Amino acid sequence: MRRLVRETRLSRDDLVLPLFAVPGAGVEREVGSMPGVFQQSVDRALDTAVRARDLGIPGVLLFGIPERKDARGCDAALDDGPVQSLVRAIKKTAPDLLVITDVCLCEYTDHGHCGVLDGEHVVNDATLELLADEALSHARAGADIVAPSDMMDGRVAAIRVALDEEGFDDTAILSYAAKYCSGFYGPFREAAESAPQFGDRRSYQMDPGNGGEAMREIALDLDEGADIVMVKPALPYLDIIRRARETFECPLAAYQVSGEYSMIKAAARAGWIDERRVVDETLLSIRRAGADFIITYYALEVAERL
Ligand code: PBG
Repeated sequence: MRRLVRETRLSRDDLVLPLFAVPGAGVEREVGSMPGVFQQSVDRALDTAVRARDLGIPGVLLFGIPERKDARGCDAALDDGPVQSLVRAIKKTAPDLLVITDVCLCEYTDHGHCGVLDGEHVVNDATLELLADEALSHARAGADIVAPSDMMDGRVAAIRVALDEEGFDDTAILSYAAKYCSGFYGPFREAAESAPQFGDRRSYQMDPGNGGEAMREIALDLDEGADIVMVKPALPYLDIIRRARETFECPLAAYQVSGEYSMIKAAARAGWIDERRVVDETLLSIRRAGADFIITYYALEVAERL
């Protein structure tokens, strides 16, 4: 009877798997704070992407760690950077796998902030052009969707204009619209080697106390041309996902971030919780709150058993 009357279900169709691409070949390094998650060179990451495709996962989200970092994150827009190379490799081998690329500067800047600096201040408008260049390099490589995660104001419009001008009007934008300034990103910053070298991201990411502001951020990004919007993190912000679902008639994503993954892993490893049960319960909650799909480091594990 429970099967017949269940309101929300989790399916492989709801999952997106993040991947971390590093330079080199044959490289596979486990992230200390994220057991089961790896930094991989393009050849290895491609194998993981193909495995995701074979398991029925619709898409992957790519992050890159560059050879070299500088103040302006110049390597973010290299046509042969790890992300761009991985996009090309996936599109050649598994063209039916949806490729989403994270667009941000924090992995590429030596100071670890998501934009360029004037002293210790992140400069919004000067960053937009660099983000647009990065997004264009991803589109040229064949990305289906670019996903700006920097939280600069006006970046969706800047990227949309740049894409359209170069003829990439079919490249979609998934905007990290309601992205909170969160302690749950800690393990990711180890994975992406992107911890800010001073201060924090409070001048551009959202205050955890704010809900109405999330609706304004989403409305702005939709206005600027976002095709899909995201709430991030997921579990601590289920109310925001629900509010977004009720306020906007648009595709809605949620990101079960690194800290959410690591907490479950750690408790499971200590034998304190039943990992499968808790993972399924959290993902189902995120869907029940209203997310159409979930970006999660658990995608492979969950798809394997669904
Ligand atoms: C880049 C970015 C971050 C995440 C996705 N893109 C980290 C941050 O803002 O510091 C976090 C993802 C995660 O924690 O899993 N700006």
